Amino acid sequence: MLPRTALAFATALSALLTLGALRAQAPANVWAGVYTPEQAARGKAVYDKRDCITCHAEDGSPGDDGIPPIKGPYFMSRWDGNTVGDITTFITANMPRTKPGTLSPQEVADVTAYLLKLNELPAGATALPADAAAVKAIRFTEVAPAR
Ligand code: HEC
Repeated sequence: MLPRTALAFATALSALLTLGALRAQAPANVWAGVYTPEQAARGKAVYDKRDCITCHAEDGSPGDDGIPPIKGPYFMSRWDGNTVGDITTFITANMPRTKPGTLSPQEVADVTAYLLKLNELPAGATALPADAAAVKAIRFTEVAPAR
């Protein structure tokens, strides 16, 4: 290979590698499988035990008296453009309505995984972290992003 060709080749290769790295760093999206089925099952237990079920019904469908549905088109568009961290922050501060602030970070992560499942978002191989900064990096979009 002539030196020039080699240089051009190296440049193209490094550009490709940079692109690859950028892709890898793109923030996770809720459509990429950000919780596990086991975690959603634990979250369902939290949902039942910690009273969510009383106000939000068994399946998160619209409740009475100004209780919003926590599944379906309303929920998906309500959080569109936010992050999973915004949902966990809201739950941590406000839910259960009767005793806000009583859920542990792990319970919040698990119950949020259950809400993602209720909204038919795909499960994956990694559990939703209980760490506030980590969930802020996961974008919530109503529609799956183009790949
Ligand atoms: C006493 C009734 C009550 C209980 C118990 C309750 N909620 Fe709520 N929830 C509400 C009401 C009312 C709202 C509307 C927002 C508000 O008033 O804070 C709400 C809002 C929400 C929202 C935001 C809905 C949206 O997208 O606008 C989520 C998520 C949620 N609740 C999850 C939970 C979870 C998880 C639990 C159990 C840990 C729980 N709730 C327990 C009454 C309740």
